[in-house]
Amino acid sequence: MASEEKIKELMEMRAKARLGGGEKRIESQHNKGKYTARERIELLLDEGSFEEIDMFVSHRTVDFGLDKQSYLSDGVVTGYGTIDGRLVYIFSQDFTVFGGSLSEMYAQKICKVMDKAMKVGAPIIGINDSGGARIQEGVKSLGGYADIFQKNIMASGVVPQISAIFGPCAGGAVYSPALTDFTIMNKGTSYMFVTGPKVVKTVTNEVVTVEELGGASIHTTKSGVAHFATESEEEGLLIIRKLLSYIPQNNMEDPPRTLCDDPIDRLDDSLNEIIPENPNKPYDVKDVIFSVVDNGEFLEVQRNYAPNIVTGYAKFNGYPVGIVANQPNYLAGVLDINASRKAARFVRFCDAFNIPIVTLVDVPGFLPGTAQEYGGIIIHGAKLLFAYGEATVPKITIILRKAYGGAYDVMSSKHLRGDINYAWPGSEIAVMGPKGAIEVLHGREASKIENDEERAEFLSKKEKEYKEKFANPYIAAKYGYIDDVIEPRNTRFRIIRALQMLSTKKDINPPKKHSNLPL
Ligand code: HXC
Repeated sequence: MASEEKIKELMEMRAKARLGGGEKRIESQHNKGKYTARERIELLLDEGSFEEIDMFVSHRTVDFGLDKQSYLSDGVVTGYGTIDGRLVYIFSQDFTVFGGSLSEMYAQKICKVMDKAMKVGAPIIGINDSGGARIQEGVKSLGGYADIFQKNIMASGVVPQISAIFGPCAGGAVYSPALTDFTIMNKGTSYMFVTGPKVVKTVTNEVVTVEELGGASIHTTKSGVAHFATESEEEGLLIIRKLLSYIPQNNMEDPPRTLCDDPIDRLDDSLNEIIPENPNKPYDVKDVIFSVVDNGEFLEVQRNYAPNIVTGYAKFNGYPVGIVANQPNYLAGVLDINASRKAARFVRFCDAFNIPIVTLVDVPGFLPGTAQEYGGIIIHGAKLLFAYGEATVPKITIILRKAYGGAYDVMSSKHLRGDINYAWPGSEIAVMGPKGAIEVLHGREASKIENDEERAEFLSKKEKEYKEKFANPYIAAKYGYIDDVIEPRNTRFRIIRALQMLSTKKDINPPKKHSNLPL
């Protein structure tokens, strides 16, 4: 063959591979409001940066007539490229080929890019759109899944792993995204469940739609399985780009610093007034976050799951940080099972990837009740405590108002190796709130007072005494548990100073195989 013909042959094979399962199936994919695997990669990566690997791989199964049905790339597009000039590895499942179902060779392609990502030290992004195990391949497909899971586990805490779900993701296939750091689901076109509606109906007699069982809204509000629900695939891909702008390439690097045009000493007088006079009145802690971070930019993670705690990324003087904040606007900012799990996972990700943690505290305690106790709040609360105590990244804590009881300890207190712990002047740091404390200390005495008015007066006097004694930050400051009491409007500047001071912080945990996190 003349070299011209050889090149022509190559071009034809490439064109064939790029067509995946063919034009009809591509059209059907578009009709469902979905992009193809390759279109998604083009949209996500820097223009022209994608280098495809293993385009000519195809399956080697002969059963069920598959010897006559074969497609170049075999249902998954893999390779590498850049996002904002930084290297990433990617695999994108192609629903037009056997419904994106996973074969032995397909799994090998994914494992190959995962290995490269680990060796080179760059994030791995998976775009999921698949009918699950390729039925014709049987156990080879199951083995392929497990091979990917094992890689996910080995890569965890070494390189960032991000999953986008843009179509079906069912059965055991859900466990790969679950093992990664962030999951993004597109509303209306994606779903995740271990068993689908038909099996659910057979086993439990529940009638449920695909959307109700495992749609984006369910997983970002009820189950907490996914971190972002998006209106379009474009939005989902943008979130991946945005997320990566706060995250280092691997666990040995620092997060990427950018230039900052927001003055570091910008004061915000409104913060001096943001806390309501009445301690039982809520306010939106996100107003505090927007006020103190660079240019008011905050990428919230798991916005609609356990909104009583806020987690997300922002920058201070161009340096990325993770922010954890109790939200008085929802359930008074109480810590419950879901909030504890959400924040614990967030803190552990930050610590694994050298991202400092800024914690804003306004917490009345843990949520009481049988639902919480039976659900294991003890274990789940311990997760957050463990995550903070284990973290060696710079930890800056600001108590805005309430820090009561165990929740005071948990929320990145000095005792859990908080590096800089500040409090606003109106803070209340105590074992419990005044009402509960007076009930315990003086309840019996009060019950002996028969006259209602006199009893109320007695309790109110005791409450006032308690508040005067404990509802301030100065006792904690007296013992050095609080490093300083700061003027709220100065908060941005004080955080930036602390972050600068801590930029070379080194702290280590004792050598061990691994910890026994209360799972
Ligand atoms: C082989 C599959 C396939 C699969 C779909 N296809 N799923 N081929 N193995 N798992 C093929 C179809 O035959 C069809 O081929 C094409 O992909 C598109 O599928 P449709 O059914 O036409 O598409 P749609 O109507 O959109 O429905 C999508 C779907 C459905 C809901 C995903 O295909 C489906 O229910 N598939 C089976 C899902 C499943 O049970 N998977 C196994 C789960 S268990 P043609 O040639 O007609 O275009 C599992 C275990 C993993 O995954 C364990 C890991 C530990």
